[in-house]
Amino acid sequence: MKKTIAIILAAGRGTRMKSDTPKVLHAILGKPMISYVTGAVSRASVKDIVVVAGFGSDKVKDLFKGTKIKTVVQKKLLGSADAVGAARKNIRSKCDVLVVYGDTPLITEETLKKLIEKHRTSTASLTLLTAILKDPSGYGRIIRDTKGSIIKIAEESEVREYKKEIREINVGTCVFTSDDLLDALKNIGCDNSKREYYLTDAVKILSARGKRVESIAVENLDDMTGINSRIELAAATSVMKKRIMEELMASGVTIQDPATTTIYPDVTIGKDTVIYPNTIIESDVRIGENCHIGPFARLRVGTRLGDRTEVGNFVELVRTQVAGSTKIKHHTYLGDAKVGKNVNIGAGVITANYDGKNKNRTFIGDGSFIGVGAILIAPVKIGKKALVGAGSVILKGQNVKDGTTVVGVPAKILKRRSGD
Ligand code: UD1
Ligand code: CA
Repeated sequence: MKKTIAIILAAGRGTRMKSDTPKVLHAILGKPMISYVTGAVSRASVKDIVVVAGFGSDKVKDLFKGTKIKTVVQKKLLGSADAVGAARKNIRSKCDVLVVYGDTPLITEETLKKLIEKHRTSTASLTLLTAILKDPSGYGRIIRDTKGSIIKIAEESEVREYKKEIREINVGTCVFTSDDLLDALKNIGCDNSKREYYLTDAVKILSARGKRVESIAVENLDDMTGINSRIELAAATSVMKKRIMEELMASGVTIQDPATTTIYPDVTIGKDTVIYPNTIIESDVRIGENCHIGPFARLRVGTRLGDRTEVGNFVELVRTQVAGSTKIKHHTYLGDAKVGKNVNIGAGVITANYDGKNKNRTFIGDGSFIGVGAILIAPVKIGKKALVGAGSVILKGQNVKDGTTVVGVPAKILKRRSGD
C-alpha cells in the first residue's frame, strides 16, 4: 500500500480571532483545536504528520515538542501553496499527501479515511473533499466541465458573477499524489487579486495536463466547519460537546441534562453511572460503573473514581483517586488526595494541599469517616477506619492511626483503637 503523509496548514494568523495566540492553539474543551485535527489524522492511520506553522510558530512548535509530529515554519504567509511548499522536504516521491487545514477541528477520522480510500481506488492525481452549501459565499467554488470533470477551483475573490451561484465548494481537505503535487507547486503563480499562491490553483494545472481530479462530498456538514472567529469557536465547541456526550450515552452512561453538562475529551465513564445537571468533567478523568456525579460537581485532571462512588453538589476533585463505594456528597475540595473504599467525606471537608510552594498529598484509609467541615492540612495521612470529628483541623504531618478518633483544633486523640 502507498504511504500517506499529512501536511496540516496552520500558519495563518486568524485575524478575526482578535488574539495574540495563533488561531489553531485556541482551545475547544481544554484542548487546542489543531490537536483535534492531528488526532483525527493519526486515527485515520496516517503516522507521518507535518504541521506548517507561521504566526506564533514558537508556540505551535512547543505544543508538538517531544511528539512524532514535525513542525516546519512558513516564513512569510504567501498563501496555501507556499505553505505546502514549506513542507516540501518531507514530501517523498510515490506517496499520497493528505492536506488538512489546522482550523477545521471537527473533521472526523471516518471522513479522512473515506477521502484517502477514494484517492487510492480512483488513482486520481488529486481528490478533493467538497460540500454543497446553501450559502457558498467565501469559499472556493468547484468548476466542472460539461462532462462533469473538475477543471478548476475559483476562489471567492476571483469567481465571476455568473458562477457565484455554484453551491459546490472546496472544503480544503484533499489528497494529492506526491509527484503531481510537487509538479503543481512549481507552476503555481500569484496572479490573482490577493497576490497569494493558492494551493487550489493545482486543480487547473493538473487538469490542463490531462490529469484527473476527483472528489467526494462530506456527509455531515459539521465536519467541514472552519473556525475563523470566537463565535465559530463557540459553535464548534457545542458540536464537540454533543459528540462526546452522545458517545458516552451510547456506551451506557446516563447524562440527565446534556445542555448544562460539559465533558472534555479523554474522559472514560463506566456503564450505569449517572451524571446530574451542571457538572463539569475535565480531561484525563476516569469514572467507574454505577457512580452518581453531581449536580454541580467539578472533576478535574487526574481524578479517578472507583465503582459506586458518589460525588455530590459543589464538590471539586483534582488529581485525586477514590476507591469504590465512597461518598463525597456536599461542598468539598479534595486535591492531590488518595481516598480508600467505603469512606464517608462529610459536607465541607477541605484538603489544604498547597502550602504556597508545593502541592502536598493527603491519604485517607478505607472505611474512615471525616466529619463535617474538617480541614486536612497536607501532607497528612489518615489511617483505616479512623474518625475525624466535625470542624477538626488536622495539622501537617499529624498522621492519624488506624481506628483512632481525633477531634478539635488542632485535632487531639479522643479514642484509640482498642488494643493500641
Ligand atoms: C481556503 C481555500 C478555499 C476553501 C476554503 C475553505 C485556498 C487558496 N482556498 O480559502 O478554496 O473553500 O479555504 O475554508 O486554499 N495558510 C497558511 N499559510 C498561508 C496562507 C494560508 O498556512 O500563507 C493556511 C491557513 O492557516 C488556513 C489554510 O491555509 O489553515 C487556508 O487559508 P485561508 O487563508 O484561510 O484560505 P481561505 O480563504 O479560507
Ligand atoms: Ca479559512
